[in-house]
Amino acid sequence: MDLAPLRAAARHAEAFLGSLAARPVRATADAATLRATLGGPLPDAGVPAERVIDELARAADPGIIASAGPRYFGFVIGGSLPAALAADWLTSAWDQNAGLYACSPAASVVEEVAAAWLLDLFDLPRGAGVGFVTGCQMANATCLAAARHAVLERAGWNVEQRGLQGAPRVHVVVGEEAHVTIFSSLRFLGLGAAGAVRVPADAQGRLRVDALATALAACDGPTIVCAQAGNVNTGAFDPLPEIVALAHARGAWVHVDGAFGLWARTTPAYRALAVGIEGADSWATDAHKWLNVPYDSGVAIVADAAALQAAMTADAAYLIKGKGEVRDQEDWVPEFSRRARGFPVYAALRSLGRRGVAQLVERCCALARRMAERLAAAPGVAVLNEVVLNQVLVRFGDGDAFTRRVIERVQADGTCWLSGTTWHGRAALRISLSNWSTTEEDADRSVDTILAVSR
Ligand SMILES: Cc1ncc(COP(=O)(O)O)c(C=O)c1O
Repeated sequence: MDLAPLRAAARHAEAFLGSLAARPVRATADAATLRATLGGPLPDAGVPAERVIDELARAADPGIIASAGPRYFGFVIGGSLPAALAADWLTSAWDQNAGLYACSPAASVVEEVAAAWLLDLFDLPRGAGVGFVTGCQMANATCLAAARHAVLERAGWNVEQRGLQGAPRVHVVVGEEAHVTIFSSLRFLGLGAAGAVRVPADAQGRLRVDALATALAACDGPTIVCAQAGNVNTGAFDPLPEIVALAHARGAWVHVDGAFGLWARTTPAYRALAVGIEGADSWATDAHKWLNVPYDSGVAIVADAAALQAAMTADAAYLIKGKGEVRDQEDWVPEFSRRARGFPVYAALRSLGRRGVAQLVERCCALARRMAERLAAAPGVAVLNEVVLNQVLVRFGDGDAFTRRVIERVQADGTCWLSGTTWHGRAALRISLSNWSTTEEDADRSVDTILAVSR
């Protein structure tokens, strides 16, 4: 095998990673330029592999955003830990089909181990079923498929065999601040986004328990409640112990979207935010956010492992299944053939250890507070949320237009990158911290830039 393209890729990766702290965070080329340099008709003749890699790296570079770097604060995007990135390279080199144990014993056992480590780290029921999926969107959909299975099974209906036509109605109750991916998951599952009962939230975006009690009183039959640990704007946590108690008293399934918030469970400093979460029935989270595993990597966790397996599993005469003695990953996720996604998760957890994960979470939260405090102290600048975790919402002056202008100027400047949102009808700049490599200096430099462009 010609290894020259791999060596070229390593050279380009080294140059890119070495440039991360200094290069502009934004892209430097527009779509037209990228189309011109990367596009054109499909050539009839192939091009030598090393040249493909060299030309791809050169042409793509101006369109690559330094979101893996220390001053990217947009959306909720983590970087890549060195061990996780290296394990991801090996995952490609090994090219395992991680659907069945029979296709890759190592991929299967590594997922088994990483799943146990995660349950331990989050202190969730140790017998829970765990699926490694592409992201929290798919983790929400996977968990809600298990929920749909369980609540309908209790009503005497096998949804996997009979579908939803003619099934008892499934009530879905969500907080009005539920993440958009909860609604797409409901769409995929045939439960419908518009049919979900939306429960009002408080000023920080936390679902209101009194309103949940009223909503649940009107639900008669199979019911799923979707709660949230970590609002994408404020970082706020729904009141989980109360939600679990109320929902379980009515026989409802509780699903928690903890895309980044579930990681608060990993440190005593923030665990109180997510106390009571262990009483829920399913949890969705991401490894590509706060664990800093390269894309794509999400985790679906379901306390009743049998419900997850029943919703996911597939079998056919030609398959070789482990019959419960070993892990066949396709029993736990929607995919059949799939990437061996467990390797980088395993490597990230092993390289950080329990203490390293806790420190990563604590460091990001401390940096969020540091940035919020400096910004709030500046004249005409207001921090709109209680900074309880790693998210900060900032407003400049009185009008939406000025805040949006500040966001555009920060993006154009390139020192750091962040985006905007609308919070309670008012434009706000969002700062999200979840990168292992961000330092106090990065945070301070970024605040200097934000304040400079807002003058
Ligand atoms: C609370 C919440 N849920 C779900 C998601 C979707 O996660 P992903 O983009 O990994 O699918 C996000 C993404 O930011 C999120 O913040």
